[in-house]
Amino acid sequence: MSQMSELLERGKQVLMGNYARLPVVMVRGEGCRLWDAQGNQYLDLFAGFGGAILGHCHPALVTAATEQAKKLWHVGNQFHSVPQIELAERLNKYAFAGQAFFCHSGAEANEAACKLARLRGQESSPKRWKIISLDKSFHGRTLAMIAATGNPKTRDGFSPDVPGFTQVPGGDIDALTRAIDAETAGILMEPIQGEGGINVYPDEYLAQVRKLCDDHGLTLICDEVWTGCGRTGNWFAHQYHRTTDGKPVQPDIMTLGKAIGGGLPVGVMYAKPELAKLFGPGKHGCTLGGNPICAAVARTIFDVIERENLTARAAMLGEHAIARLKGEAKIQSKIKQVRGRGLFLGVELAAVPQNLVEKALDAGLVINVTAQQVIRLAPPINISRDEWDEGLNRVIELLTLL
Ligand SMILES: Cc1ncc(COP(=O)(O)O)c(C=O)c1O
Repeated sequence: MSQMSELLERGKQVLMGNYARLPVVMVRGEGCRLWDAQGNQYLDLFAGFGGAILGHCHPALVTAATEQAKKLWHVGNQFHSVPQIELAERLNKYAFAGQAFFCHSGAEANEAACKLARLRGQESSPKRWKIISLDKSFHGRTLAMIAATGNPKTRDGFSPDVPGFTQVPGGDIDALTRAIDAETAGILMEPIQGEGGINVYPDEYLAQVRKLCDDHGLTLICDEVWTGCGRTGNWFAHQYHRTTDGKPVQPDIMTLGKAIGGGLPVGVMYAKPELAKLFGPGKHGCTLGGNPICAAVARTIFDVIERENLTARAAMLGEHAIARLKGEAKIQSKIKQVRGRGLFLGVELAAVPQNLVEKALDAGLVINVTAQQVIRLAPPINISRDEWDEGLNRVIELLTLL
């Protein structure tokens, strides 16, 4: 029995079956490459569901983690710590003026955001507590977040649903307007949907949602767990949007996860100061949230992205990929649409593919398929131009064989 087969057998005994795991044990990563226990090499075009935004074992992140590990490993949140302050300052610099609550995951960040929206809603009469989200959205796996998620499959078997969450079709401002009632506290939405199939809304939609929130006194929560930290070619995807008079559209709360930790567990609920102040002592918490090692790595991610101008690069590489995939004559019958922004791309196929992820893996390529027939490409944003072209060539090759 090979070492990999033996590990797979052991894993089967002791790991829960809640993930459709592929029969591969990864043991090493460097940049955009991964190696399994048998020494096979893979080009990673999915970056661990977006976590590895700067690829695997980036030297600056390894240094940040090891330096911090030698200084201060963990301290309770009854104290301040330098990495937390510096990370929150980065958010002020690259997003908008606000205050941060740190946790470990996107779901936890969204939970915190909904709690804060409800807290604000308590000030109204009648009290506002309901959250509207969008069809095909994904906001996490906690009980409240499966109720917020616009995919009934994620709720299967977990009834009764946590009350107070409804969904409407995305991109339809009239449907959203109709769903608001006197008890609505907020709207929760991804600027571009990830799990739902890289769904991009009409350009004016986010500004319209912002206006609706302003008109009705609602809290706008942008779930940037997938789209944050440079992936879409801007620091945050909401920054693509402007009001009709040219002002930037900002959410009241932005949630982050995945990329902000570079693969370490970091979630952030980041709110405008007037909202953030409602979270006084005892209102919320997280023992290990803002852990110094995780926060030091997260802070460094912003520094590397800025230093290497990776947001602009992600935008450029994304446009290049869309042009290549749309321009390749031999795959046009296989694809319905190519969409997305920056290095957050979806290739909707004309038919549901059979075992495409497994076939890609056999060819040394890590990709993902969501919403049945949408290939998701979300490589580390520091992928080299050569590796990106190599990846696109291999995707095109796979598609010709469908
Ligand atoms: C948009 C969005 N929000 C929230 C989450 C949940 O994040 P986590 O898995 O870190 O809880 C995800 C996970 O895929 C996501 O895509």
